[in-house]
Amino acid sequence: MPPCVANYGLEMIRIMVKIGDIALGDFPLLLAPMEDVSDPPFRAVCKIGGVDLMYTEFISSEGLIRNARQSVMKLDIFESERPIGIQIFGSDIESMKAAVGIAEKVNPDLIDINYGCPVKKVACKGAGAGILRDIPKMVRMTREIVKSTALPVTVKTRLGWDEKTKYIVEVAERLQDVGIQAITIHGRTRVQMYKGNADWTLIGEIKNNPRMTIPVFGNGDVAAPQKAQRMRQKYGVDGIMIGRAAIGYPWIFREIKHYFSTGQLLGPPSIRERLSILRKHLELSIKWKGAKHGILEMRKHYKNYLKGIPNVKMYREKLVTLKSYEEIAEVINDVQRHVESMMFAFSPVEQGEQKFTRVPF
Ligand SMILES: Cc1cc2nc3c(=O)[nH]c(=O)nc-3n(C[C@H](O)[C@H](O)[C@H](O)COP(=O)(O)O)c2cc1C
Repeated sequence: MPPCVANYGLEMIRIMVKIGDIALGDFPLLLAPMEDVSDPPFRAVCKIGGVDLMYTEFISSEGLIRNARQSVMKLDIFESERPIGIQIFGSDIESMKAAVGIAEKVNPDLIDINYGCPVKKVACKGAGAGILRDIPKMVRMTREIVKSTALPVTVKTRLGWDEKTKYIVEVAERLQDVGIQAITIHGRTRVQMYKGNADWTLIGEIKNNPRMTIPVFGNGDVAAPQKAQRMRQKYGVDGIMIGRAAIGYPWIFREIKHYFSTGQLLGPPSIRERLSILRKHLELSIKWKGAKHGILEMRKHYKNYLKGIPNVKMYREKLVTLKSYEEIAEVINDVQRHVESMMFAFSPVEQGEQKFTRVPF
């Protein structure tokens, strides 16, 4: 029985997960912050897909202070997205506090600190996962940020810098002690980057540490309902954060929820639904970033939206080269006609757990 479910006699009482006053249901699914991916158009389709809590892409504290256009644009959040957190990163405590002050002005539900980015230009300057090499500074920075804002502060981090420094169990306790209200841990070290498999063992240890009272969310390699269920049961986490599996497949959230509540796989969305959400994503992307950039940004999403459709390569190749909305929309219509003739629907084959399924179009 996962620790988030209390058993009082015959009744199973599900405990509401909360970050500050934000009620998130009994087992929230979070959309991972992903640079160049988790922008408002992508978040909009994930919201349709059933996500419970979302974050912006990480935003540079220095960029916000300099009023850099790219950083400021990432502060764009919308009422329909709530609850939503703004994620910031940086290595200087005063800059981080100032950036939180700027972020507060757009009225997010919470502030998340990125202590997990492994990218050299971030981590090697002591920001992101770089701070895992200086735990006292990590604790100091967190305390100062918590003190500087009335919003709930959460942290997203990794197990440690490398294999020898996986101090996350102690770190989580110390960050809770200075006031964070939830923690998400990606089950890899900085040195691992995205290689190997995420290991949730220490995430489970944190959750089972009797001193921990804040929600603990697990992250890393969850791409199918059955895996989400296994991680929930085995490690007792309060919720799961999902990143890459949602790219081009925002239905992952509703599929996991359905599996939790019924024990049955929901089955994949129809092709019609997939293409309709793809069109919506494209339109929102153009609306938010303008035609040129909106169309370019979408190129990274087509592959997953179209994954599993037989003989789709020719269409995909066109989608990533065309430059006008009208031409792209026409190719999406061609894909629809192409699949209508085959009467197939599909699901992405994720870790062999969801199988290609034949259902009516
Ligand atoms: C393209 C991409 C961009 C990312 N950008 C961020 C980011 O801005 N902030 C962050 O905390 N993590 C970032 N991450 C890490 C993810 O949030 C997540 O921790 C990681 O992908 C593991 O989860 P997953 O296996 O569900 O994808 C990024 C990951 C990817 C693939």
